[in-house]
Amino acid sequence: MKVLFCTSEVVPLVKTGGLADVSGALPVALGRIGVDCRVLLPGYPQVLENTAPLEFHCDLTGLPGQPTARLLRGALPGSDTCLYVLDVPAAYDRPGGPYQDTQGEDHADNAWRFALLAKAAALLASPLSPLGWRPRVLHCNDWPTGLAPAYLHFMGVATPSLMTVHNLAYQGIFPREVLPDLELPPESFSIDGVEYYGNLSLLKAGLYYAGRLSTVSPTYAREIQRSPLGMGLEGLLASRAGELTGILNGIDSVEWDPAADPHLSCAYSARDLSDKRHCKQALQARMGLQADPDAPLFGLIARMTHQKGLDLVLDVVDGIVHRGGQLVLLGTGDAAIERAVRDTCARHPGRVACLIGYDEALSHQIEAGADAFLMPSRFEPCGLNQMYSLRYGTVPIVHATGGLADTVEDGVTGFVFREPSAHALWLALEQALTLYADRAAWRRLMKNGMQQDFSWQNSAQSYLTLYRGMV
Ligand code: ADP
Ligand code: GLC
Repeated sequence: MKVLFCTSEVVPLVKTGGLADVSGALPVALGRIGVDCRVLLPGYPQVLENTAPLEFHCDLTGLPGQPTARLLRGALPGSDTCLYVLDVPAAYDRPGGPYQDTQGEDHADNAWRFALLAKAAALLASPLSPLGWRPRVLHCNDWPTGLAPAYLHFMGVATPSLMTVHNLAYQGIFPREVLPDLELPPESFSIDGVEYYGNLSLLKAGLYYAGRLSTVSPTYAREIQRSPLGMGLEGLLASRAGELTGILNGIDSVEWDPAADPHLSCAYSARDLSDKRHCKQALQARMGLQADPDAPLFGLIARMTHQKGLDLVLDVVDGIVHRGGQLVLLGTGDAAIERAVRDTCARHPGRVACLIGYDEALSHQIEAGADAFLMPSRFEPCGLNQMYSLRYGTVPIVHATGGLADTVEDGVTGFVFREPSAHALWLALEQALTLYADRAAWRRLMKNGMQQDFSWQNSAQSYLTLYRGMV
């Protein structure tokens, strides 16, 4: 099986969220079960600088507004998975992140930048490919790659395509005026095409033209077929229900292993949990929390967006502190949420601490040092941190949605609440606080979680089955 995996971010090169984790791990896991899976990624500066050696592979012609581009070839860091890098300096060689400039504004030409990526993917999957290697399946991920199935369609290329939705909240919407820059035919701008409420939606293009659709958990696959989580696309998704599958993400169990985690000063496993308290001590010290081995310590790591429900947590902070608990938060995102988090920390010195920013090492230290982990997301296509938490014996407290509902079992491996409200979160927290006082019961919960297997092996096998069904 040969697969071209097209994505806009990959760990450890460039990451804004879980898509990067998946893109760094799934192709490697597929390689282990015999799939020749190659990754296509834009040549952002972070990619060109940090992927050594990257060699010129071939020229690629036929991209919109960019008659010739260079295709470079290397490997995903730490593996022998083939990585193709689309080198178009006019589109990708600029400061900032993959989608936004250094001020946090979207790059004004994003529609074109990702149309290039999508067209490159379609060309590489077509008989016009200069690679001398033809994928049997083109696997696209999220809106930046959504036009690829549309290009395949209008090029008359029969290579089957899979469109995976990692988050339906990001739909790649642009005014119709950009259409000519993308070299899509005018007739594509229709409800049976790339049009979405008078605009162009790159994600919708993928959902309409791809042969198969998938998302990153079975529950989310059901949720997005109706309002509100279908976010306007529920009609299309429901009409394609028979071609839509939910495959739960895995986690990188080498990167996330409490027994051998280079970001920690301690190591522990389900067999010997005693050293976890050293991680807690180190986290309290690093974050300026009172050194209190018995205080239930809650952790949270998230992009600070409405999706993640931080407002619910801020509503129950006083209760947590009142009950003798501590809270540590890590994340970055909306300015208003960041401000509210900072204010809350200032009100509870020594009990609530935060770091506003991106910090890989601290994210591992929170997973290891906290007793429990909060994920009150309003929706969560899969979610990775609850799985990291389970592996680290850090009991997850989650809203029953998407992948959270599929991975955490109420009262067995964590706490699950039904409504995305501060009240429901608080009731779950009270249960957790009560159980925490019963050391033996809490340990049982920790161990149950640590025994779960969320490695990529199972998910990779499911993708392979899906690919086989497509060819
Ligand atoms: P999403 O993709 O919606 O952001 P996921 O749970 O799938 O949510 O993945 C988020 C990933 O990003 C996790 O690996 C998480 O640890 C990481 N992450 C998010 N914010 C930060 C941060 N501020 N610092 C370090 N890691 C972060
Ligand atoms: C998205 C989702 C998250 C998921 C990740 C990887 O960013 O918000 O729930 O885990 O993609 O699939």
